Order: sequence, then structure tokens, then C-alpha cells
Amino acid sequence: MRSERKSDELNRSTAFDNKLRPTDFSGFVGQEKIRDRLMLAVKAAKERGEALDHVLFSGPPGLGKTTLSYILGDAMGANVKTTSGPVITKPGDLAGLLTSLEPGDIVFIDEIHRLAKTVEEYLYSAMEDYAIDIVLDQGPNARSVRLDLPRFTLVGATTRIGLIAAPLRARFGLVNRLSYYEPVHLAEIVKRSAAKLGVDIDDAGALEIARRSRGTPRIANNLLRRVRDYAQVNAGNFITGEVATASLSLLEIDPHGLDEMDRRILESICAKFGGGPVGLSTIAVSVGEEPDTIEEAYEPFLIMEGYMERTSKGRVATELAWKTLGLSPLARQGELGI
Ligand SMILES: Nc1ncnc2c1ncn2[C@@H]1O[C@H](COP(=O)(O)OP(=O)(O)OP(=O)(O)O)[C@@H](O)[C@H]1O
Ligand SMILES: [Mg+2]
Repeated sequence: MRSERKSDELNRSTAFDNKLRPTDFSGFVGQEKIRDRLMLAVKAAKERGEALDHVLFSGPPGLGKTTLSYILGDAMGANVKTTSGPVITKPGDLAGLLTSLEPGDIVFIDEIHRLAKTVEEYLYSAMEDYAIDIVLDQGPNARSVRLDLPRFTLVGATTRIGLIAAPLRARFGLVNRLSYYEPVHLAEIVKRSAAKLGVDIDDAGALEIARRSRGTPRIANNLLRRVRDYAQVNAGNFITGEVATASLSLLEIDPHGLDEMDRRILESICAKFGGGPVGLSTIAVSVGEEPDTIEEAYEPFLIMEGYMERTSKGRVATELAWKTLGLSPLARQGELGI
């Protein structure tokens, strides 16, 4: 029952992602360097009549990896076949997919860090030589046959770049690391989404939502969805700064955009470890999360926003972290008799 509800919610939010997803480069806001680099690569490949180089996208969830992959497909006029790391369990699955491709097709592998090792090794020759060796029969009759593949483009997406083996990473011609969005870009995304949803919004309203979105377009769109309900019921379907502030505080959305895990990490450094320095693995145990996830999905945001620092001795909470949590580092020193 519970898991049904959960998957229901997941389906609804995936449908919402799709509805608001820009379909071409002109609708993709922010990340200019990455966008320009990709547009150039697409133009060059099309002029030469070749398939696009293999592309890797990495970065925290909700920043636009899947969106960019579809935009690439559209820009290249190519078919996009979508799969994900955990779905391809054996080399045969991969061989089946790759041998069904037309020249120029794009294969999108989401969560590529979760590919099985045996499958990953097959990808090496597929990506580099456009061929795979498959083993027929077993035992003494076993022999391997080389199958040629059409020129295709592999687009991989990962939230955990640290888990991608060096040989796989090296086979991608274009490696793009997406970073958190500035509030002005998020506000622009909110405005475009509001137009698609048919709700009016002014600059102040968009900026208010943007500021609480943890640098993440998906969160911005989700908050907009909530604020829209409030505006519809209470404010004649028009989101002003005041309307946004009122509805976001009603929903108890953190005014700094911190989510629950961000707070737990900061609380752990401050309250349990006196503000640091403390090692990553110690923090991980204390908040019950994988060290890699903390390092790749949480820390970049907390460091960018000035809540913590990475030093050679470990992680250290800043003044801002103490202030935001409503704790005082001076009181702590008093308590410890320092
Ligand atoms: N640059 C952007 N401009 C406009 N909308 C964006 C942008 N980036 C992301 N979005 C919106 O945010 C939503 C989430 O983006 P997307 O699904 O591409 O994230 P993702 O990086 O693939 O996340 P995950 O790691 O969870 O798969 C999309 O529905 C899209 O509407
Ligand atoms: Mg995605």
C-alpha cells in the first residue's frame, strides 16, 4: 500500500517533469558553457554528417541531465533509446540494444554508474571500435563472434561521477559537470514553467520561489506547483512576492533552501563535533548516509552557499551555519570551558 502510494507520487512527479521539460536549447536556461559546447558539437557533427561524440552528464539530481539528453536527440534529429544502468543486468541485454541501432542513434543510459562491471567492459569496445564480441555456446564449443555496430552516440548520466571507472570516463568525448543554478536563472525557469501551467507570476514571486529552490530546477518547479494551488485558492491565480512568501511559509519550506539532509549534516558538524574539523566518513555515519552521496550531492551546495568548508583536516562549519541553525559557537566554547 505504502509503496504503491510512493510509486504513484513518483509517476505524478515524473509526468510533471516531462510536462515542464524544455525541448530545445533555446528553452534551456543557465549552464551557458555546457549549452554552448553542446550546440557547437551538434553543429559540427551535423555538418560532417557524423554521429555526435559520446557525451557524459554528471551532477546532483534535478539539474537537467535527462533534459539535455533529450534536447541533444532532438537537435541531432536522432532516435533516442533510453535505458538505465540497473536495467542492463547482463552483456546480452546490452548486445540486444546495440545491435538494433540505426546509424546516428542515441543511446541514453541513466544512472550509468550502476552498470554491472561485466556489462561496462562490453561498452568499452562498443564505444571505441563500434563492435562487440559476443560468446556463442558454452564449454568446449564456446567461440566468440565479432559484431559490427553502426556509429551511435552514447549519452550517459550520473549523479555519482566518482563511481565511474577511469577507462569508461575516458571514452566520452564530451564530459559535462552540471552545477547548481543561480537564483536569476531559477527565476527565469519558474516564469517559463508558470506560463506553461497557465498561472500569472511577477518577478518578485518568481525570485521568492527561486531563492528557496536549493539551486535546483526540479525543486523550483515543485515549489511552483505548490504555490500555484495557494494562488488559485487565495489570490486570484496571480503569484506575487507576497503570495509566494505566504504560501511557502505555510508549507514550512526552509527560507534558505536547505533540505532535511542539509540540516542534519550541518547539525551533526556543529552540535556533535563542535563545528569540526571532522572527517567525511564520521559525518556519514552520524547522519546515516553514504560518504560519496554526501560528497557529491550535498557538500557542493553547502560549500557554494558558504555553510561549510573543506579543509585538509576535515569539514568545518562556518559562522553562517551556526547562525542559520540558531546555535552559537561562543556559547559552545563557554560550555566547554575554552
Ligand atoms: N536548464 C533548465 N531549464 C529549464 N528547465 C530545466 C532545466 N534543467 C532542468 N529543468 C527542469 O527540471 C526538471 C528536472 O530535470 P531533469 O529530469 O533533466 O534532471 P536530472 O538531472 O536528469 O535529474 P536526476 O538526476 O534526478 O535524473 C525537468 O522537468 C525540467 O523541467
Ligand atoms: Mg534524470
